[in-house]
Amino acid sequence: MEHSVRHTILFTAALCVVFSMLVSAVAVGLHDRQLENKRLDRIRNVLGVAGLSEPGENLSREELLARFESGLEAQLVELRSGGIVEGADALGFDQRKAVRDPELSRVAPPNRAKVRRVPHHGLVYLIKEQGQTRGVVVPIEGHGLWSTLYGYLALDIDARTVRGVTFYNHRETPGLGGEVDNPNWKALWPGRLAFNQRFDPVLRVKKGRAGPPETDPYQVDGLSGATITSNGVTNMLEFWLGPSGFGPYLAEFRKREL
Ligand SMILES: Cc1cc2nc3c(=O)[nH]c(=O)nc-3n(C[C@H](O)[C@H](O)[C@H](O)COP(=O)(O)O)c2cc1C
Repeated sequence: MEHSVRHTILFTAALCVVFSMLVSAVAVGLHDRQLENKRLDRIRNVLGVAGLSEPGENLSREELLARFESGLEAQLVELRSGGIVEGADALGFDQRKAVRDPELSRVAPPNRAKVRRVPHHGLVYLIKEQGQTRGVVVPIEGHGLWSTLYGYLALDIDARTVRGVTFYNHRETPGLGGEVDNPNWKALWPGRLAFNQRFDPVLRVKKGRAGPPETDPYQVDGLSGATITSNGVTNMLEFWLGPSGFGPYLAEFRKREL
């Protein structure tokens, strides 16, 4: 009896060791692939928001990379001055890592988006057609109800007219705040104006319905039953298009490109 108990314990322990080693080996082995998948997902989102792929279009890895190469140019930007950091490894920049590093970021001024730290740099994408810049994609992030939403806003060459918005990571409730992913809601954004005539970032998600872009350019329909997430989107636009975000860069962009 005693023998069998010891045997069972030893056998279970050995099994645990073997399987934990196996699981670790698989996790380590898949790490690179997970990173690559994240990178491809980011590319897929940037292409979509820039209007360089259709909603639901299923592109292979090679097609994604080819479209990225021909249609987008990554630029590293110094947020405070709005200047471009020439020769930088823009695609290697990781904003989430930067905000955890006190040397690469600073405490954010009080803001409604609940952004705590601002990176010194930001990664933007120029939208190219036949070598000509046609617009720009900037990252946005901020708090909704349950989670931080991470996404992109694409602007036309005037750095004012919206091309599109997308969120690639959030944990809002499906059917409520999760409706930020609804293609019908995202279709309401193109043609709206992110800035007023004085270039204050005024675009907001209102409670209720907005008119068409031609008559109601500064508002987008609210997500019903999800006012907190809707306000979160408004707040993150205000922050990232403002003076602590990409405001200075977009001002320079307008001067340069128009
Ligand atoms: C289980 C549950 C999940 C919810 N998820 C969200 C959400 O993701 N986003 C959100 O803004 N509100 C969510 N709400 C609703 C908020 O608590 C709040 O009532 C709502 O934002 C108010 O919006 P309304 O004025 O459009 O009704 C959730 C509520 C419940 C009970």
